[in-house]
Amino acid sequence: MRAESPVHFDEQRETWDVFRYEDVERVLKDHGTFTANRAFDLEKSSNDGDSDGDADLPMLQTMISTDPPEQTRLRGVVDERFQPGAIREYQPRVEAVTEELLDDLEGEDEFDFVDEFATPLPVIVIAELLGIPAERREEFKAWSDALVARPEDDTEAELERVQREQERAQREMGGYFATLLEERDGGSGDDLITLAANAEELTRGEQIGFCMLLLLAGNITTTNLLTNAIWSVEEAKVTDAIRTGAVDRQRAIEEVLRYRSPIQSLKRIAVEDVELNGRRIETGDVVTLWLGAANRDPDVFDAPEEFRPERHPNRHMAFGTGVHFCLGAHLARMEADVALGQLLERFERLDTDLSDLQPLNGLYGLESLPCDVS
Ligand code: HEM
Repeated sequence: MRAESPVHFDEQRETWDVFRYEDVERVLKDHGTFTANRAFDLEKSSNDGDSDGDADLPMLQTMISTDPPEQTRLRGVVDERFQPGAIREYQPRVEAVTEELLDDLEGEDEFDFVDEFATPLPVIVIAELLGIPAERREEFKAWSDALVARPEDDTEAELERVQREQERAQREMGGYFATLLEERDGGSGDDLITLAANAEELTRGEQIGFCMLLLLAGNITTTNLLTNAIWSVEEAKVTDAIRTGAVDRQRAIEEVLRYRSPIQSLKRIAVEDVELNGRRIETGDVVTLWLGAANRDPDVFDAPEEFRPERHPNRHMAFGTGVHFCLGAHLARMEADVALGQLLERFERLDTDLSDLQPLNGLYGLESLPCDVS
């Protein structure tokens, strides 16, 4: 499809599919023509809820669903806290959480990597950054799962059920964040809820959206990065080479991001008529940008279908590009580096069962990944 019809209109899903690296990059960088604001043309963009793997989050006015200058204002509140320097300061805490999770696995011969490690790690990390009391974490996990849940089938009853659950979770989580924001207003803590509460340029509604976005955006994505990392290095049989340092761990993580991008696609809406690679896109048209396909574009990557753990340079777009480039990219990379490093140090043998992999529908990851460390 990338070669034959790089910009293709899908009648059924009513969206343009864009596959080539150059085109995906152009759209993401041209926020003046392609808006991230899903409210731009609700009627035309009403194919929400499909399961084509985009990164839909519930409709909230947050940085991810606005364009500059609005997006710049919202992101500016928190940008510095996710820069490399700030993330480095937080690394010892991530190391400690990782160690605790691995301690809990000690003595077990077998465990499910997704359930017992890759899911809790990012949730605990972001909950700590936000300053969510430890005793409420389970509840937050349940709400965030409900908010990103996808229907199991296309029936109206199932769609309604998921929507009801999402609305309930959003109400409850929003209510709880509102209480925490109220309590921390004027406080001096260095957690992100206090940061949001003290950001006078944000309305209370924006502060709630900000907390919810931070909590949701990095969980499943980082879980999938961790899972895809173990899956890919085991499959390519380079686990030992990474353990001994013969293969660079950070380069291997970048290659996982390229080869199995946790978010496969993003959406934008054209705000004016525009031509893209010879096709005419009209105002209000929805454009689906396939990051997964762009990251395997042979015009940009040599042997793109091969997992090459030392690939360098590696200009993948797994974190997007342009003004919405992932806020949490440095955090996700650091978590993956710490996690992979400690895992390989702790377990001399990490036999994964790759025989019955069930890739997740939509986002790219696995539902379970059994590991035998006996
Ligand atoms: C934006 C991917 C982890 C927070 C994005 C975008 C992508 C992405 C592709 C661009 C969305 C767009 O252009 O519409 C990923 C992947 C991750 C990851 C693959 C893990 C491997 C995280 C983490 C956080 C986070 C840990 C935690 C704070 C955000 C936020 C945005 C964003 C707030 C919106 C930025 C903006 O609109 O300015 N992410 N993300 N992400 N990500 Fe991540």
